[in-house]
Amino acid sequence: MSATIIVGTQWGDEGKGKITDLLSSDMDMVVRYQGGNNAGHTVVIGDKTFKLHLIPSGIFYPKVTCVIGNGVVIDLKVLLKELESLQKEGIATDNLKISSQAHLIFQYHCDLDSAQEGKKEAGRIGTTSRGIGPCYVDKFNRRGIRVCDLYNQKELREKLIWNIEEKSFQINKFYGGSVSYDLEKIMEEYLGYASKIKKYAVESSTSLINQSIKDKKKILLEGAQGTMLDVDHGTYPYVTSSNPISGGACSGAGVPPNSVSRIIGVVKAYVTRVGGGPFPTEIEGKEGEELREKGGEYGATTGRPRRCGWFDGVVMRHSARINGLTELAVTKIDVLSGLDKILVCTAYEYEGKKVMDFPCDLDHLEKCKPSYEELPGWKEDISKAKSYKDLPKNCKKYLDKLSELAECKISMVSVGAEREQIIRSSSH
Ligand code: GDP
Ligand code: IMO
Ligand code: MG
Repeated sequence: MSATIIVGTQWGDEGKGKITDLLSSDMDMVVRYQGGNNAGHTVVIGDKTFKLHLIPSGIFYPKVTCVIGNGVVIDLKVLLKELESLQKEGIATDNLKISSQAHLIFQYHCDLDSAQEGKKEAGRIGTTSRGIGPCYVDKFNRRGIRVCDLYNQKELREKLIWNIEEKSFQINKFYGGSVSYDLEKIMEEYLGYASKIKKYAVESSTSLINQSIKDKKKILLEGAQGTMLDVDHGTYPYVTSSNPISGGACSGAGVPPNSVSRIIGVVKAYVTRVGGGPFPTEIEGKEGEELREKGGEYGATTGRPRRCGWFDGVVMRHSARINGLTELAVTKIDVLSGLDKILVCTAYEYEGKKVMDFPCDLDHLEKCKPSYEELPGWKEDISKAKSYKDLPKNCKKYLDKLSELAECKISMVSVGAEREQIIRSSSH
């Protein structure tokens, strides 16, 4: 029983990077299990800020083996850039391992992503345009190209010929684009990447991870995105193309469910969302903008402004249930300091009836109105709080309300972006 999962409980950007980095000091291995460079995980160490897109957030500890798991989709150009920028900062990256089963993103995936977004007449998803969806489509359609294919030139060439033909047809004939792809150039580019990542590639990441479990090592499985962006359990179709939920960790890393003992839900003290799609507690206008500025709510990957809203207890309940959360890590509570009152959505109302379960049908969801409870705010700066008792009474009341709605205990409260700005449950 040695694995811990870190999962986003809302629409992503909850602070998973910070919490992963924090817990990594006590881990032997950190594994990313899904998503790709649509993720942007921020780690702040002293006066340095790192934004990680593909490399696990445990990379700052040389003793921690960091694995990009089989469930991740990799853009090698981005990965190599990320490695280079870490190395420039003096961060050792020899502890990185890349699963040979992970799928690769090619330019045609990015072009297809943008073409699809451009074509949609109504309700653009607002993807990150990183080719994530088209790459997962190829994986499930069994046309994908994996890391292992880079070391078999014949196989790589055959798969590329087929894919180039298919994607060019789709983009040009259906979406009205004008792309052309040069097979030899792509071969040359990717064979170049292949030699650069060879030292990190492992034939069986699942053997590596499971051997660590057998050896009673401590393993952290780092989710990207969040529960409400899950392709099965989120606000479909306004979701990503993978399973960020805790269950996704088992398939995306190849770990058995009974090896997991802790499931930590990362919960932002309010809610944000980037891109399109329903957001019942969204704060419109000036108040929402103020919260965005105060919380620095701009995407770590695309720089897009994040939509901001009040804490949503219905989302929280849905998320706690699906993920089987054993504890919560609440982040960005410091951002709420200074407000006179804070609203918390405890239920939705639909045609005069109380709704406690998150509606799966978007038509139904759109007709739901949030029911709010008003809690008193606090004025004190809490960014230097070291223990629970340092927090103002109203802040503790707010945290108790979040815990009550999630039906789950809080084990960590983050009061600032920096690594040291954390209150652990032992200080409650
Ligand atoms: P992730 O994708 O879940 O890792 O989250 P992001 O890194 O995209 O977004 C979280 C943002 O909030 C980053 O800029 C973090 O540095 C910052 N952050 C994390 N925890 C806290 C906190 O407790 N307080 C404040 N003020 N900022 C935080
Ligand atoms: P982290 O790991 C927030 C959103 C996009 C879009 C939808 C689909 O940093 O929390 P995609 O490119 O995945 O096909 O886009 O998902 N999205 C995220 N939003 N945080 C993320 O990752 C996200 N990754 C994807 O904005 O709405
Ligand atoms: Mg992020």
